Amino acid sequence: MASGQLSRAEALASSGCRHACHVMLYSDTKTQLFGRIPIKHIILMQMRFDGLLGFPGGLVNPSKETLEAGLSRELSEELGVAIPVSIEDHVDSCYAPASSSSSSPHLITHFYVKKMEEEQIREVERAAASTATDHGQEVLGMVRVPLYTTKGGGGLACFLSHSFIGNARSQLVDSLLRLNLVAPKELHKALTHSLK
Ligand code: APR
Ligand code: MG
Ligand code: MG
Repeated sequence: MASGQLSRAEALASSGCRHACHVMLYSDTKTQLFGRIPIKHIILMQMRFDGLLGFPGGLVNPSKETLEAGLSRELSEELGVAIPVSIEDHVDSCYAPASSSSSSPHLITHFYVKKMEEEQIREVERAAASTATDHGQEVLGMVRVPLYTTKGGGGLACFLSHSFIGNARSQLVDSLLRLNLVAPKELHKALTHSLK
């Protein structure tokens, strides 16, 4: 099988693959940076144990649990809150062949997006830094994605120039575009700038 997208049903029918589910939790916000730059949306990512940025979630075992129940279980470990995620929140599934030097089985990553209220996102941040069992171990901390561009060119472009796990960076960029969280022109500028 070549790398690329597949439907949820195709993904579940693939034998001998590991499955991982991750979610982008986000909300709208009216708050402003320095009292003048609209923050617009809060998008949660995390600094992982390996120093890479990624979305909360992890490995699930479809023979023992549904993808969504497995994702909720991972979220309770990583965020300290069991956030329900449903099939309607599923965005895509992606096949990523293991490198030829790796002995681990191929991986299928399932990506979800869930919109919440700002107060719920803040509650997740509080729990992730206090009651979450993975805090300080598998998860070093939650981070918000800056969606604006500052005068000096900082903000989204700088954020995108960090290192991300797997295809987390494209999952983020695709979501920003699909959900219209950043204007396409601004996103394009940030992407161009981040590649320099
Ligand atoms: N896109 C593609 N792959 C991803 C993404 C992503 N956005 N996010 C994570 N992965 C990969 C990781 O490289 C990992 O191999 O999915 C797999 C599982 O995701 P994790 O969130 O890391 O899994 P989790 O179950 O939370 O933690 C288990 O413990 O034994 C270690 O290295 C192992 O990462 C694994 C962790
Ligand atoms: Mg985990
Ligand atoms: Mg994880």
